[in-house]
Amino acid sequence: MGGLRPSGLHINKPVVFGLFGIALVVFIVTRVYMGGGLAGGVASRVFQIGSRPTVVNPSGAGRGMEPVVNASKLDALPALPPDGTLVKKEEQFKVTVAGQTLNVQVVQMMNSKTDVSNALTVFFLHGAAFSSQNWVDIKTLDHVANWGYRSIAIDLPGKGKTADTISTAHYVDFLSAFIQAMGMTKIVIVSPSMSGGYALPYLFNDPKTSTDRAVGYVPVAPVQTSAFRKQYPESQLPTLIVYGTKDSMAETVLNDLSLLPKHEAAPIEGAGHACYMNNPEAFHKVLYHFLKGLTS
Ligand SMILES: *[C@@H]1O[C@H](CO)[C@@H](O)[C@H](O)[C@H]1NC(C)=O
Repeated sequence: MGGLRPSGLHINKPVVFGLFGIALVVFIVTRVYMGGGLAGGVASRVFQIGSRPTVVNPSGAGRGMEPVVNASKLDALPALPPDGTLVKKEEQFKVTVAGQTLNVQVVQMMNSKTDVSNALTVFFLHGAAFSSQNWVDIKTLDHVANWGYRSIAIDLPGKGKTADTISTAHYVDFLSAFIQAMGMTKIVIVSPSMSGGYALPYLFNDPKTSTDRAVGYVPVAPVQTSAFRKQYPESQLPTLIVYGTKDSMAETVLNDLSLLPKHEAAPIEGAGHACYMNNPEAFHKVLYHFLKGLTS
């Protein structure tokens, strides 16, 4: 009903609401385009990692539109310290999962020069044909410790020096129990290839809370990325997608993980599936860049 006022003025409600709506839209669009953002810039701040500029790929589109980290354009890495500064600590650590106790091989690189009690923990998983030893061999654990972070790698069940095995159904429980038992906080999970079977469900079964379980994610061409396409858009986990440009899995991995709103991609030029083995320096550079961004 239009309603007739005592004055006799006829008010057409749909027209009034329509004009108000148009004015509101114009106001919002103007605010956003002028760079002010809404509510004092909250909208523009939400999409930042640390103090870095946005890494959002709003369209979620595939290759060619990614925010790219180019290893060859990054600064040189800090030099490793003299021998003896970093000390490797290896142990068999007991973890109980679903009533079963496993002995898990853990390697940590200790840095006597830094206090890591409040630092990020960089937690390395590995691919099917690999183990924690590979991260030792290419000095990844040394670099991470040298940068001031807690530096930890494990041998996943049935691999390397972890003889005990568990069923796939308990992969998430295993990771969860291990992280708790080790007292790890502020975790960045580095997860290549086969270890995607552990890290992906752990992080993205419940995508809205993935940031409670990790502060950063570095997938290196993991398996099973397509299984979580529905979940990625709901996660705010900062992610660095690392892949070798010669890896046949790269396209699928990139298309899937690009659905994560806070991702950057770091192609390692000319490298294959195990790109960190093919070009450790480029891998270390992009990792260093990502970790600095999380803490700055
Ligand atoms: C990275 O930078 C190098 C040197 O400037 C350039 O040749 C290369 O094409 C760049 N790669 C990407 C993926 O942009």
